[in-house]
Amino acid sequence: MQKNNIPYHVAIIMDGNGRWAENKNMPRSIGHEQGLKTLSKITQKVFEVGVKNLSVYAFSSENWKRPKNEITHLMALFEKALESNFQYMVDNKIKFNLLGNIKKFPSSLQKKIRNLEEITQKNKDFNFYLAANYGSKEELAFAADTLRNSSRKITESIFKNAFYAPNLPDVDLLIRTGGETRLSNFLLWQSAYAEIYFTKTLWPDFKTTHLNKALEFFSRKIRRFGKIY
Ligand code: FPP
Repeated sequence: MQKNNIPYHVAIIMDGNGRWAENKNMPRSIGHEQGLKTLSKITQKVFEVGVKNLSVYAFSSENWKRPKNEITHLMALFEKALESNFQYMVDNKIKFNLLGNIKKFPSSLQKKIRNLEEITQKNKDFNFYLAANYGSKEELAFAADTLRNSSRKITESIFKNAFYAPNLPDVDLLIRTGGETRLSNFLLWQSAYAEIYFTKTLWPDFKTTHLNKALEFFSRKIRRFGKIY
């Protein structure tokens, strides 16, 4: 933890894009586009207030079950997002990290992801983690499989070192928009002691005022981590 009860790591499950668009009789793709605009604004704000690590859930390993045209549109949107936020990450010394298995993504998208990771890898001030084709259970199975021939005793830290992003810190504040109250296979291990903030606000409607409410919620928490004060 750092000064003034500002969380060190904020994770966001950006839910509600589809419903936002459907409520307005628009295609779901418009909801995702609006969701991307929200993401750009909220990312800037999160880092401005002093949070050092931000993880966002953009595409789960279960999202492949969606209609093909929605998936194609999301892939194109990811590419657009990487292009339009490239300079912002470089200028603000943000290290970009991809969390998940991107082998199933279009090769042009894979190249842009690897390029941004490479160019920003020395940045130390902030970390942005984009979870794409990410599933927490899959990550845990991946770690177990990596270590299966190890003769060492597997401790928590050795196990964590085999995760997709071993340096990803534990989540302090997890925000889920869109009204559902579940974790949907996002950062299960890393969120073991997270404060969890659920809001009915749909992601495209999520503004700085909503973020401030989530941060206030966090600042009021007394975090015991199992101890008694
Ligand atoms: C969940 O809403 C959202 C997604 C599956 C995609 C998230 C994508 C974005 C916010 C835009 C692009 C982001 C990046 C990083 C490029 P939903 O579709 O499940 O909404 P619903 O629950 O209302 O159907």
